[in-house]
Amino acid sequence: MPAGEHEFVVVANRLPVDITIEDDGSLSWERSPGGLVTALAPLMQKNGGGWVGWSGKVGFEHEPFDAEGMRLCPVPLSEGEIARYYEGFSNATLWPLYHDVIVPPEFHRAWWNTYTSVNRRFATAAAEAVAPGGTVWVHDYQLQLVPSVLRMLRPDVKIGFFNHIPFPPVEIFTQLPWRHQVVEGLLGADLVGFQRPGDASNFLRAVRRLTDLQVRGPQVTVPGRWSRPDRAVRAQAFPISIDSTAFEELARRPDVLERAKQIRVELGSPDVLLLGVDRLDYTKGIRHRLKAFGELLEDGQLRVPEACMVQVASPSRERVEQYKTLRDEVEVTVGRINGDYGALGRAAVHYLHHSYPATEMAALYRAADVMLVTSLRDGMNLVAKEYVAARSDLGGALVLSEFTGAADELTHALTINPHDIDGTKATVMRAVNMDRKESRRRMRGLRRRVMQHDVQRWADDFLGYLAMSVPPPPDLRPP
Ligand code: G6P
Repeated sequence: MPAGEHEFVVVANRLPVDITIEDDGSLSWERSPGGLVTALAPLMQKNGGGWVGWSGKVGFEHEPFDAEGMRLCPVPLSEGEIARYYEGFSNATLWPLYHDVIVPPEFHRAWWNTYTSVNRRFATAAAEAVAPGGTVWVHDYQLQLVPSVLRMLRPDVKIGFFNHIPFPPVEIFTQLPWRHQVVEGLLGADLVGFQRPGDASNFLRAVRRLTDLQVRGPQVTVPGRWSRPDRAVRAQAFPISIDSTAFEELARRPDVLERAKQIRVELGSPDVLLLGVDRLDYTKGIRHRLKAFGELLEDGQLRVPEACMVQVASPSRERVEQYKTLRDEVEVTVGRINGDYGALGRAAVHYLHHSYPATEMAALYRAADVMLVTSLRDGMNLVAKEYVAARSDLGGALVLSEFTGAADELTHALTINPHDIDGTKATVMRAVNMDRKESRRRMRGLRRRVMQHDVQRWADDFLGYLAMSVPPPPDLRPP
């Protein structure tokens, strides 16, 4: 296959921009929020990098184009492919399977078939973009077959894969009818990265159970086919982070601090402001959080208007059945709590089904006394890290589910098991009543971790290990 021109290529389900097609047919775009592009942009700009991904629009077909200092290569997806590959196999099979089967995963052969053909399309686009001996970094559960297809098309390139979500225990993973193919797909990479050491060991256990390959420590040996040498594949944790300094600076801006004050006034100047910020996803434990808050109001441990909660739930995957059901349940619960405990002009829960710009989020973080992260399972949870980065005033308290990747690192948070409603209530009250000395000490500890381990360091670590993987022999490099 002819090689492309980019030394470094990122492959992700989504492109790092939100594209608008203007009336005259021309394109405009805005960089999407999110740490991945921030971390990789300098490297992409330096090396003339390429990014292969879906535009988020049905059937959008376009030649590769330059934006944000990199070459973007859109992969088109038809309506049917979005239904079967994205909403179906990625978000109604793999997503629940990899998140502790919180809702039952659905297994449909037609979804799997489309997942394989779309993964082949992404791999082909990457193979066409990457220069001889270049590096390709593939991201997340939507694209687990890309490494092995790409390896076949371009044995000369280095391939890294990073899984942004948990990797499940083998007892759950093996429910997947196509478990062998997924493991083989991932083993096409030289380096497979995970959020937590536990995810990496789950993957290595799956390799042991499902293949007869040799596994030693973090390394799997894959015998070379067609007289190619054996390959070593390394599986290891690289906990992702945010652009901590940029977020801290944003949260210090005078307009943001002003907005934080204004938010508190608009909410009726409560003594205690609790905050939840999530995509509206069943993995986030929003119902558990609301239940705990509702009971605290019922018990009289908290009272409106002295206390209130803001819940930002950004719309997500709205055509997937389980997400529609969750939205109904959350909205009924919010309505019930407000009906029982609210007063005129004084809601108990301010529920916002929108996405907000980073400035508004930073202001909310600065305004909140207690941040509630109650995920039932979460690869990392970057909201927790954003809250910490925003609190350079050392104010606020973080209540954090032990089922997040972030809990491995953020050991100064108040941790909870969100299934334990009494335990969660007690911990929320501990956060509410915590003396300033303790909360500052905890926030200082949290900030030490988040400010030092930012997304740049994450990307450098991962790419540093990938660079150390053994290069392919010269005869495998395209001429
Ligand atoms: C998680 C996944 C990402 C995904 C994001 C938003 O963080 O790890 O791969 O992009 O959710 O979900 P969406 O389906 O809207 O891309």
